[in-house]
Amino acid sequence: MLRPRVAVPSEYPPEAGYGQRKMNARTSHDATPFLPDTAEGRSDLGELRRAAAGCQGCGLYENATQTVFGEGSPGGRVMFVGEQPGDQEDRKGLPFVGPAGRILDRALAEAGIERGDVYVTNAVKHFKFKRQEGGGKRRIHEPPSAAEVRACRPWLDAEMRLLDPDVVVALGATAGKALLGPSFRVTKERGRLLPLPDWEAQVVATIHPSAVLRAEDREGMYAGFLDDLKVAASALG
Ligand code: URA
Ligand code: SF4
Repeated sequence: MLRPRVAVPSEYPPEAGYGQRKMNARTSHDATPFLPDTAEGRSDLGELRRAAAGCQGCGLYENATQTVFGEGSPGGRVMFVGEQPGDQEDRKGLPFVGPAGRILDRALAEAGIERGDVYVTNAVKHFKFKRQEGGGKRRIHEPPSAAEVRACRPWLDAEMRLLDPDVVVALGATAGKALLGPSFRVTKERGRLLPLPDWEAQVVATIHPSAVLRAEDREGMYAGFLDDLKVAASALG
């Protein structure tokens, strides 16, 4: 049996809709009141996604286009956790459909992990960005704060409970810290199967695929990323 990492309270005023529960989004920093009643495992992915669309658990919903919830096979044995949606993901409403997603897709294929076995999500479900200086149109990615990762955590826990994956792959430092704690360091802990604290699953940490795009030695960086995914693939048998 899986245990949730944090207890999810199940009692909320029945008259309140998912998105309209009374809270101050700016100060409360917690998605919990927006969750459907998943405490008994009754909701499905569609219900979770609809509830997440109305989340105001932290301030990030205000400037982003939409919630980008996880996507993939409900029976998937591997869950990939990224940081947060990027510019294209924010527009399309789907995770990993931009440049980092193309790296991930290529590595999945080469590691022999089938799409039907995969669910992809992010530690934070809204795109955080700042506008280019001088009033330009470009939206520049900003890393989420620890408080925003914490606020969004109930969605990730709910996805974990529903998907019940065998292996979780943490893509980059934000996901690694979210899953393995604040002392997590990619360089030290990548590419090994580790027990996932509080869950009956294993975790493999690796770099974020966008690091491949930024690297001077892209091929070398990609090769390391692929090696790490192969470790995850080996756990699937
Ligand atoms: N980077 C992420 O971490 N997640 C996405 O969905 C896209 C880019
Ligand atoms: Fe809710 Fe997460 Fe979006 Fe914050 S980032 S509003 S907690 S879905």
